[in-house]
Amino acid sequence: MATRVPGPLTLQETPAPERQVVASVQGLTRRFGERTVLDRLDLEVARGEFIALLGRSGSGKSTLLRALAGLDGEAEGGLSVTGSVAVAFQEPRLVPWKRVHANITLGLAVPNPKENADAALAEVGLSERAGAWPLTLSGGEAQRASLARALVREPDLLLLDEPFSALDALTRITIHQLVLQLWSAHRPSVLLVTHDVDEALLLADRVLVLDAGRIAHESVISAERPRHRDHPDLTSLRTTLLSALGVSPEGTS
Ligand SMILES: Nc1ncnc2c1ncn2[C@@H]1O[C@H](COP(=O)(O)OP(=O)(O)OP(=O)(O)O)[C@@H](O)[C@H]1O
Ligand SMILES: [Mg+2]
Repeated sequence: MATRVPGPLTLQETPAPERQVVASVQGLTRRFGERTVLDRLDLEVARGEFIALLGRSGSGKSTLLRALAGLDGEAEGGLSVTGSVAVAFQEPRLVPWKRVHANITLGLAVPNPKENADAALAEVGLSERAGAWPLTLSGGEAQRASLARALVREPDLLLLDEPFSALDALTRITIHQLVLQLWSAHRPSVLLVTHDVDEALLLADRVLVLDAGRIAHESVISAERPRHRDHPDLTSLRTTLLSALGVSPEGTS
């Protein structure tokens, strides 16, 4: 007698978890005078996904981030964000006359801000510097403080505008690991603007290229993390992304 082996049917019986959208941008246009920087741009950010956004200098990456952060009242088109948003910029933007822990919880309405600051600083490995003045921090420490300040807000959407670009190569590696660790623990959706194709390949689920005001290219990366830059999938994606950016892998256009 034939026995029925539970095969692919079992899989089909379990419905896939529904994809939740945290941010949705439809036909977003931003003009500065005569110049159209974002031109009817469409983008959806799913809950928990890690997106890297590449694009030439001046292509409108920061403009898009500012719109998503609710910092730009003049963008036209549809834009909706579900939940809270936090931003970390290229320069950490700490207030110099407040100590690190006070910077972390600046403007945060919680009963015990010091406790929240301590927890966030511990997560980024900066507990020892809680009482320090921002100007006495190293570049990497200041950027970790900036991450702690974003984290303490428990954002649904974390916007990172080239936060690692000023750091030396070794500090960047450490911060990449930290960001992945924080992302795994808290699972915000992340939109990371970067100029660094390798950074995008190491961190993101999806890499987008902004060009002529729209998302001109999308690559999905399914390689397991932690990733090694020499992973064959990444090597071919690197070539694809560089060509989407108008650069040949050797660096000659
Ligand atoms: N407030 C503003 N007034 C006028 N032009 C602006 C303003 N903000 C941005 N722009 C212009 O819009 C274009 C896109 O700027 P944006 O800062 O978004 O570029 P970006 O992709 O972030 O560049 P980069 O990689 O150099 O940071 C640029 O040409 C910039 O000069
Ligand atoms: Mg920018």
